Amino acid sequence: MDKWGIDKTDTVALDTQDNALVLIDQTRLPGEIRRIRLTKVQEIREAICRLQVRGAPAIGVAAALGMYVVASRYETGDPKVFREKFLQDKETLNSARPTAVNLSWALTRMEGVLQKEPEKSVEDLLQALKHEALRIRDEDIEVCRRIGENGLTLLQPNDGILTHCNAGRLATVRFGTATAPIYLGQEKGYNFRVFCDETRPLLQGARLTAFELQEAGVDTTLICDNMSGHVMQQGWINAVLVGADRVAMNGDTANKIGTSVVAAVAARFGVPFYVCAPTSTIDPATAKGSDIRIEERGAEEVTELWYETRMAPEGVKVFNPAFDVTDHSLIAGIVTEHGIARPPYEISLKEILARGQADGQ
Ligand code: MRU
Repeated sequence: MDKWGIDKTDTVALDTQDNALVLIDQTRLPGEIRRIRLTKVQEIREAICRLQVRGAPAIGVAAALGMYVVASRYETGDPKVFREKFLQDKETLNSARPTAVNLSWALTRMEGVLQKEPEKSVEDLLQALKHEALRIRDEDIEVCRRIGENGLTLLQPNDGILTHCNAGRLATVRFGTATAPIYLGQEKGYNFRVFCDETRPLLQGARLTAFELQEAGVDTTLICDNMSGHVMQQGWINAVLVGADRVAMNGDTANKIGTSVVAAVAARFGVPFYVCAPTSTIDPATAKGSDIRIEERGAEEVTELWYETRMAPEGVKVFNPAFDVTDHSLIAGIVTEHGIARPPYEISLKEILARGQADGQ
């Protein structure tokens, strides 16, 4: 625990003494582990846009805790004014990144608190918001632990695993989604060999996944994005585990750009491709992958970031989508906290969501 009473490894946290959102600044990893403390809605939005906090579940938790932090500074005792300010700030955060459904999911839960408590004073509303935000954080930890248990049933000791982007502890509060079975296996002596795609253009695999797995003592090998076919052809990979930013009801899954290429290569070599995601990433309002809005980011991420001098010709056209959609036909299973959904996903995802509702989520 640090001086704010926060577990030092948590990616996203609440400083309950000063009511501040505390984040590990992921843009500085792996060179520097620096925490930032945020209290204003615009700075929280900026942190999400700049990927100082990133990964679908972590964005959701940051938005929930962030909304409480921001609301705790409203200078009004009038519940009506409080609600108006809350809705305005909620929209500010909601517009930060469009693809990860966990952002709007968490913000909708926070807004639900205000709807449930129409007669309450500002003080009581704040207490209820704090309670909900901390619940969203705690659920994330528990959900990832359960994804780990379910995911581990798909793996064998000494397996080679390939992962793309960072669906690790840095993308959640703790444990991660795609990395949760890996961490659990590590504890049980499974001796996995994990290959991380570097994940152009922002290098979440090289900077974040390789960093956190190596720190945890996992056998970790970094490869460039265009090497997955080669390592699968060598027979080194027994399973692919990736995260998700939004799962449509037919199983089509949006995740970091390049994921769909890995899935196609895995299908070619008969390697099972699994998506690990909390049920909060399954979007009942999205029927199929083509309905998912894909975030596009700045050209400079492709042409100059990470290079001492710009490496692409000035004026060249650049296309930089941050995510792609993997077709459900390429996915062997979707590992959630409520079990593993298998094709046909139209049926199994509904069952998984119903299980969650029966569990009170
Ligand atoms: O742009 P990012 O770094 O937020 O993208 C992250 C991913 O695509 C992750 O794989 C996904 O959010 C799942 S995180 C558990």
